[in-house]
Amino acid sequence: MSPASDLLAATLAQADFHPRLPQQRRLYEAAKVAIHQNRLGAGNKLPSTRDLASDLGIARNTVIAAFGQLAAEGYVNSVLGSGTYVADLRELARGMRSGGKDVTGQQHTMPTVAPAPPLSRRGEELTRYAAGARYEIQPFAPGDADFSSFPFKQWQRLQNRVWREARADLLDYGQCGGYLPLRQAITEYLRLSRSVKVSVEQVMITSGTQQSLDLCAQLLADAGDTAWVEDPCYWGARRVFQARGLKLHPVTVDADGMALEPEDLATRPRLVYVTPSHQYPTGAVMSLSRRRALLDVAVRKNAWILEDDYDSEFRYTGRPLAALQGLDHDNRVVYMGTFSKVLYPGIKVGYMVAPRELVEPFKSALYDLQRPGQLMVQAALADFMALGHFTTHVRKIRQIYGARRETLRRTLAQHLGAKAAQLVAISSEESGLHLVVELPDWADDVALQALAREAGLSVYPLSSYYLAPPVRRGLLVGYAYVTPEKIAYYGKLLASVIQSGVRR
Ligand SMILES: Cc1ncc(COP(=O)(O)O)c(C=O)c1O
Repeated sequence: MSPASDLLAATLAQADFHPRLPQQRRLYEAAKVAIHQNRLGAGNKLPSTRDLASDLGIARNTVIAAFGQLAAEGYVNSVLGSGTYVADLRELARGMRSGGKDVTGQQHTMPTVAPAPPLSRRGEELTRYAAGARYEIQPFAPGDADFSSFPFKQWQRLQNRVWREARADLLDYGQCGGYLPLRQAITEYLRLSRSVKVSVEQVMITSGTQQSLDLCAQLLADAGDTAWVEDPCYWGARRVFQARGLKLHPVTVDADGMALEPEDLATRPRLVYVTPSHQYPTGAVMSLSRRRALLDVAVRKNAWILEDDYDSEFRYTGRPLAALQGLDHDNRVVYMGTFSKVLYPGIKVGYMVAPRELVEPFKSALYDLQRPGQLMVQAALADFMALGHFTTHVRKIRQIYGARRETLRRTLAQHLGAKAAQLVAISSEESGLHLVVELPDWADDVALQALAREAGLSVYPLSSYYLAPPVRRGLLVGYAYVTPEKIAYYGKLLASVIQSGVRR
């Protein structure tokens, strides 16, 4: 056996291949490893296909196929009438360093992969701000819904029906802003439930609010433009704007929502991001006078308002509040909603209602930049809405979450003790998926988050949502997916964590 045959036989024997991997792939992989490790060095002549086949006890055609693949990928060169030679990988990839010996004992260049190029400046920025990592879901993580109440069976039936119909057109990319019946169902829903002024042409299906925001940031603003954002702010929106090079101008939020001051009005925003129905994370509802004032400012400044209506389905008493978009007579508002909360985040379906002049540019950019798809899911969702299952589901989870909210409030009040209870304020509005427990200024909410994590609880510090001082201290406590029994148990633990944090 030649040294090269020996080497390949040994490499094949050591490799941990999938049992169904064909012989020719095994040989090809083994040769690649030997070449990369420079055990088969550049310029080495491989055995003839006949000899190697006989040395390894395999068919010659198998060797021919493996050599063919290696040649096609540039690992070896076939020289007519002479044989097959290992290629010099340095010529293929620059930046490889030297070392190692080949089977003939000659010193050769060690081809190692060149270090990955450093990130772009944008990449550096993006990763520097990374904030979206999810820890394991533990009790009280804010924003998480209870997926166990998802109507799996119903959904399965609708999904099966769509697949049974075998509509090839639904396997294509989604063009024209998404599946028309879904856009119609959303139009109806928004008119009835959210008082949005909308016709079906204005509705575009996206893969969620994050994508809607990103499209707006790309199409409506240039790098260096200013975006007014609520302070404290939803980190997802903040990240998108930063990623697109926008300057964030934080505007303080109080009990009536975004509170514009003269120093804010002295700046020129291109975009204004708001969550007027239920400010994230404080829960404030923007007052009517503030809504009107904001719309006026948008006209005067020629700015676009991005209304993120992410959780308006979760209003536990009274009617849901009307959307800001419904008050807009000047077409300054881009309204966005999502099925992430009300169905499940992985569905990746959201929607945007764009002013008429933006519809065509948005649709073409959506197609060019994102290549939307998932029409099968959109079709099932359209049926889910048209058949009334959506309304039933919302009603059901609204009841569940409302009761859990009350249980959490009661449990905390019961276990905080009179002294701590006087020092904290538990949010009282009747909506959303989390409560805010506001803490006194001296409390360190970041340290409390760490303390809570040690107790197996996941709560978020309010101060971390702020862009500028002064920050308010508090904890965001999610209740939607925690069962009442668990709320009673873990709520007591949380109360003791809070007690320790407010002690002077
Ligand atoms: C304020 C806010 N907007 C939007 C979303 C949902 O966005 P998406 O549709 O991208 O899942 C969330 C989710 O946590 C949110 O908190």
